[in-house]
Amino acid sequence: MAKSASSLYVCQQCGARQSKWSGQCAACQAWNSFVEEVASSPPPKGANLQTGQLIELTTLDAPQETPLRYLTGMQEFDRVCGGGLVPGSVLLVGGDPGIGKSTLLLQLVAKLSETVPCAYISGEEAIDQIRLRAQRLGVTKAPVALASATNLNDILLTLDRSSQPRPKIVVIDSIQTMYVEQLDASPGSVSQVRASAQELIRLAKRRGITILLVGHVTKDGALAGPRVLEHMVDSVLYFEGERGHHFRILRGVKNRFGATDEIGVFEMTQVGLQEVLNPSALFLSERIESASGSVIFAGLEGTRPILVEIQALVAPSAYGTPRRSVIGWDANRLSMVLAVLETRCGVIFGARDVFLSVAGGLRIHEPAADLAVAVALLSSLTNCPAPYDTVYFGEVGLSGEVRAVTQTNLRLKEAAKLGFKRAVLASVASSRPDREGAVKGLVVDPVLFLKDIRKDFRESSPGENPHA
Ligand code: TYD
Ligand code: MG
Repeated sequence: MAKSASSLYVCQQCGARQSKWSGQCAACQAWNSFVEEVASSPPPKGANLQTGQLIELTTLDAPQETPLRYLTGMQEFDRVCGGGLVPGSVLLVGGDPGIGKSTLLLQLVAKLSETVPCAYISGEEAIDQIRLRAQRLGVTKAPVALASATNLNDILLTLDRSSQPRPKIVVIDSIQTMYVEQLDASPGSVSQVRASAQELIRLAKRRGITILLVGHVTKDGALAGPRVLEHMVDSVLYFEGERGHHFRILRGVKNRFGATDEIGVFEMTQVGLQEVLNPSALFLSERIESASGSVIFAGLEGTRPILVEIQALVAPSAYGTPRRSVIGWDANRLSMVLAVLETRCGVIFGARDVFLSVAGGLRIHEPAADLAVAVALLSSLTNCPAPYDTVYFGEVGLSGEVRAVTQTNLRLKEAAKLGFKRAVLASVASSRPDREGAVKGLVVDPVLFLKDIRKDFRESSPGENPHA
């Protein structure tokens, strides 16, 4: 069969284009990611001064008619997007299927619609399904404009020409179901997703509409298909959580109008998502006293301190190669902490399996958790519980030294607030003058080297090296 002259192969992972199919993408190394798409129009042949139009150049300073930000009334959401939604901005909310993106955004527009005209356009569910969900969430009376549509031309025209008050905040659920008629590619392909997003972004900027795009995530955690989408939008938020847990974390990974790395914590209940304003208390609520291998880490997510339980289990291995299994932390850092414990502190894990888990389904990205992880490992290995009223934080260096981390005060205050009596941290951090007064009722115990902690875990154990 003769191939059409304008057909093109597009990598569904990174958007790279080439004229021939190949098994692996040279740009992003993804396998089997090329899909044939038909280029609808020939590429432009250079700039043309005859047909171009003058652009009006303007100043940075301008009279402000619209509010600077729409406050959603959900504190957890507002914090993650840097203090509310910016008019005319486009946000991408990514997450695994079934994690609760549609629920979150329906709740959000239901709340916002009391003050701003809002629309919710779904390409995934029928109107009746959305109404059922609204009943469950108890928001059927909210004045949200609802539609079920996937043709982007119809959506753009409706949003642009709507004779009712034009929606100021629009949810598109999801960008993978939308398609532009002019393009000869199936919905969800890179070309369609990119073209749809481009059109929506153009509309958002022209009309000052805030658009929230829902995007699905692939198995390996990337937004399905288009990496390009992340560059185009103003903010990218990830909604994540472990399937078996009811906690959900909204994490800001890109934000043109505020800080990233902020998290919002929610709990999925029978009647929708509830905000968790004091996550530390929640993450610690299922803690068991006198269990070995359990340690409290005073962490920081964005600007907020969060106390979380780190659990370790060191068990005899049935196989020659011991297992190292991590949930919620970086496996490479676990290997490093194990190596430091073995080499610098003489604690031998040898052929034992090591399991590490951050309780509650939270993912920690901070190196500050090193110390807490090391203590959890020691505690499990020696079967000696860590002190119940103590928090740990600090980075562990390759020489076995404990290093200071940022925001010591915030972490200590949070620990004191939750009734902890003692904090173990790097001695450099504890000697800083700003420590005084901020942490009443908390004893600060500085450590210089990881091996100094080892004496607290002295239960006789065959895992310890007597020569260390
Ligand atoms: P949903 O918002 O449809 O996920 P997504 O849009 O990310 O695919 O969430 C679906 C899940 O949430 C589903 O497993 C049921 C659960 N759920 C509750 O537990 N309580 C509720 O009130 C609602 C609406 C959903
Ligand atoms: Mg959904």
